[in-house]
Amino acid sequence: LIPVPIFGFLLLMLAGCGEENLSALRPKGTGAKIQFDLMMLSIYIMIGVFLVVAIIFTYVILKYRKRRGEEDVIPEQVEGNTTLEVLWTAIPILLLLILAIPTVLATFTLAAEAPEDDKDTLKVEVTAHQYWWDFNYPGLDFNTSQDLYIPVGEKVYFDLTSNDVIHSFWIPALSGKMDTNPGLKNSMWIEAKEPGVYKGKCAELCGPSHALMDFKVIALERDDFDAWADKMKNAKAKADTEAAQAGEEVFKQSCISCHAVGEEGGNLAPNLTNFGDRETLAGFLDVTDENIADWIKDPQSLKPANSMPGFGNDLSDDEINSLVAYLKEQKINQ
Ligand code: CUA
Repeated sequence: LIPVPIFGFLLLMLAGCGEENLSALRPKGTGAKIQFDLMMLSIYIMIGVFLVVAIIFTYVILKYRKRRGEEDVIPEQVEGNTTLEVLWTAIPILLLLILAIPTVLATFTLAAEAPEDDKDTLKVEVTAHQYWWDFNYPGLDFNTSQDLYIPVGEKVYFDLTSNDVIHSFWIPALSGKMDTNPGLKNSMWIEAKEPGVYKGKCAELCGPSHALMDFKVIALERDDFDAWADKMKNAKAKADTEAAQAGEEVFKQSCISCHAVGEEGGNLAPNLTNFGDRETLAGFLDVTDENIADWIKDPQSLKPANSMPGFGNDLSDDEINSLVAYLKEQKINQ
């Protein structure tokens, strides 16, 4: 009866952590719901098989045990039983068919439901990097990172690729995984049924910081999404306070060749146009002044093998603090 606790443990693992909206067992998207139904079907079959085996097992142990006072003899030896052999071949075949038919049908359903790759569908180009996500909105003409905004109740089309090694794009509550391969383009679509924040993960081992390569999906009502996209399109770097103005100078000197804010800057590192709206830094750290400063000083100690150099030796504490002030001003949402 060992399998019972193991089975329970696996279920717990699948369930994940509730608050983060990271569970394939609480589907909030069309693709995830189809997958959830398949998962439940196989779980019911597994429970059925387990019960039948456990009952026969217990029955046989009890019935054929050695009773007190019984002689120590070898019981009758039985070899070959055609009925049994046909049965235990036919039953697994039947069970596999019951699993296979809905699985294949689900694949066709997902393909049939896919939106057209045309101008009526919102399209996002996803590029995975060690260890962050770039989201480009070609129809809307802007680029962002880490927080993926989508409209709720609509199918969103994705083109996915990678800048370096193979990663996998996964938003458990919304859909299945899709590999991102360097030099290749994969496509998928998702549809969030409820507004909210959904956690996404990299689901392919891609290096030392694979486990920290998280992102968020923010599903907004269409009007809110349009308003957000409008602001993103027209966003410019902001520096209202004195500290932020000093920070802007530092940014232009040390950061802008890799990071963009608004229309200015490089695309080697995450776009920071709406950095001030984000609650998470580098995929896993809470956005606090201290964490931002620590990250700028020594990102390698926080997220090993990422591409950002540390600035702890090049910038003074004042310069780093002004940079923190500048970054926090880069907000789109009020
Ligand atoms: Cu990227 Cu794992």
